Amino acid sequence: MRKLYLIGIGAGNPEYVTVQAIQAMNKADVFFFMDKGEAKHQLVALRKEICERYIENRSYRIVETPDPVRDASISDYTARVERWHEQRALLYEQLIGAELEETQCGAFLVWGDPSLYDSTLRMVERIVARGKLSLEIEVIPGITSMQALAARHKISLNGIGESIAITTGRQLTSGLHGSPTSTVVMLDGQCSFNHVLDEDLEIYWGAYLGMSEEILVSGRLSEVAARIEEVRNNARNKNGWIMDTYLLSQRKTPSQDTPPAIDLAAPSPAEAE
Ligand SMILES: C[S@@+](CC[C@H](N)C(=O)[O-])C[C@H]1O[C@@H](n2cnc3c(N)ncnc32)[C@H](O)[C@@H]1O
Repeated sequence: MRKLYLIGIGAGNPEYVTVQAIQAMNKADVFFFMDKGEAKHQLVALRKEICERYIENRSYRIVETPDPVRDASISDYTARVERWHEQRALLYEQLIGAELEETQCGAFLVWGDPSLYDSTLRMVERIVARGKLSLEIEVIPGITSMQALAARHKISLNGIGESIAITTGRQLTSGLHGSPTSTVVMLDGQCSFNHVLDEDLEIYWGAYLGMSEEILVSGRLSEVAARIEEVRNNARNKNGWIMDTYLLSQRKTPSQDTPPAIDLAAPSPAEAE
């Protein structure tokens, strides 16, 4: 049976690639590259660099194909994405059938982690459900842009015992209603943080995380929003593309910062967390 690895390669720095990912890459005969948009050239180059750096004593092939474009005539967003996933599934079903022999291993090198805002898993599920190819699937986790953001700003994503929301710029345009105190925003081409300027928030923003072009800005949202927008526009004009992620967190009032009196009968912090 053909085997297909979905390998999370981390979100930008070749050193985010895990040992498990390297071991899986060293088993693959064919790598399928499926990038799109402005970042295409650099992201494909990074995947090639990762293959060259980590695959040892083994011959492999790279199969590159243009990604289908979303059909702009479909006005409903979900329907448009559904159609695009279907087109991709058909394309890759054909490609895997043609390029991978029955006993061979193929691999998709997925940006960050395959579980987070990435359609490769859904596409592969469709191929399996269609039943034309029999495939064994293995998913290798990777470091997400969200984790890279937290590490580079040296912050925890959650408040003590609190939840985190993960959302998109598109969703943020309608506000933060009912969201937890911390919200990670991805896929935001429009600086949607401008829709929540009135809220008392801190922002931790990062672009090109883990890459040589990396930019970090943090501060009170109402004070740094304009600067982030300017830095973002300049970087995008200079590099021709940008990927950015940010954490919005509710600002603590001074009283929340004051440590509570210690009650010796209470459980220790280690037990409480
Ligand atoms: C299609 S999603 C892929 C997310 C990816 N699967 C992950 O685990 O991070 C692309 C979005 O991820 C975020 N992103 C990915 N890589 C990034 C990076 N190196 N720096 C900043 N944001 C990044 C951006 O919000 C971008 O719009």
